[in-house]
Amino acid sequence: MTSTVGLIPNWFPPNRENYDLIVSVWKWFPVAASLQWIIPWYGMGKTSVTSRLNLPGRVGWLLMEAPGFLTLLYHMRTLPSQAGVEDLPWQNKVLAGLFVIHYSYRAILYPFLQPSMSPLHILIFLAGLSFQLLNGLCIGAHLAAYGPVTAPPGRRPPSSPLASPCSTSASWPTTTTTTSCARSAARAAPARARAARDGGDAGSNANSKGVDKHYEMPQAGLFKVVLYPHYLVEWVEWFGFWMAAGWGCVPARCFLLNEVAAMLPRAVRGKRWYVEKFGEEAVGRRWAVIPGVW
Ligand SMILES: NC(=O)c1ccc[n+]([C@@H]2O[C@H](COP(=O)([O-])OP(=O)(O)OC[C@H]3O[C@@H](n4cnc5c(N)ncnc54)[C@H](OP(=O)(O)O)[C@@H]3O)[C@@H](O)[C@H]2O)c1
Repeated sequence: MTSTVGLIPNWFPPNRENYDLIVSVWKWFPVAASLQWIIPWYGMGKTSVTSRLNLPGRVGWLLMEAPGFLTLLYHMRTLPSQAGVEDLPWQNKVLAGLFVIHYSYRAILYPFLQPSMSPLHILIFLAGLSFQLLNGLCIGAHLAAYGPVTAPPGRRPPSSPLASPCSTSASWPTTTTTTSCARSAARAAPARARAARDGGDAGSNANSKGVDKHYEMPQAGLFKVVLYPHYLVEWVEWFGFWMAAGWGCVPARCFLLNEVAAMLPRAVRGKRWYVEKFGEEAVGRRWAVIPGVW
């Protein structure tokens, strides 16, 4: 039995045995996420409701998402020396860097780039926070100590094929930002118009449930084909990450599969929401998230 010191000895960062245990539990996350197919309640975004247990949308999102990359950074910093790793290969550092770039945007910039974000229920917050902590721990511990930590002769400098999936991973945040911003702009304009008309601030209009909302039928770019292209490109991004980490990287594979399990039911239900709100004609032939499939 190995041991580690840290915020929670042997668990955070985990020793080898506890890491294996956590990863084997993490593989079962899709079973829990699948409950969304039968439980319609989701206290966030379009289905956000008024509740005393709500957190403000932007701050709630930031506090929910940021612990993921902070956990990964913590493991990259504390675990190698405890596991006897003297010099981490640059490939591991690049992968950790890509993860941090994605979440620096997603956790910190993204919520404040949105014209508004609906309140977040504490249960959704806690579920998202657990996801982030477990995911950051598994990927961080794999990259810092328990995955391949010596540069094998087969691994080549950045001009190698490895660079391709890596750069794909790096490019997707840009794509995601663009898609999100295109829709945000669509939302900001009417919100501003309403605010000017009502003499208030943009985003200050509340619906009958007291939650700030104004939704448009998204029209920009990929939204013409699918209603949740930002989910789709996120999956492609983490597929690229898994490819770059190596097909044997179980935490990277879990990350992709767990994301799909968590987001697919949301996108499918989201399409039904668009049909109910805007009508079948407005939604037209658009898919929920995967063109030609769903
Ligand atoms: N949800 C997940 O489980 C999950 C998991 C991993 C990663 N992500 C990523 O995190 C990002 C956000 O996810 P999300 O589930 O919150 O996405 P979302 O439901 O599409 O909402 C994203 C933002 O756009 C606004 N919005 C949504 N539909 C709109 C419309 N028709 N017109 C105008 N504005 C609209 C939302 O406002 P409101 O808040 O008021 O609805 C929110 O500010 C995505 O890029 C996704 O890939 C999500």
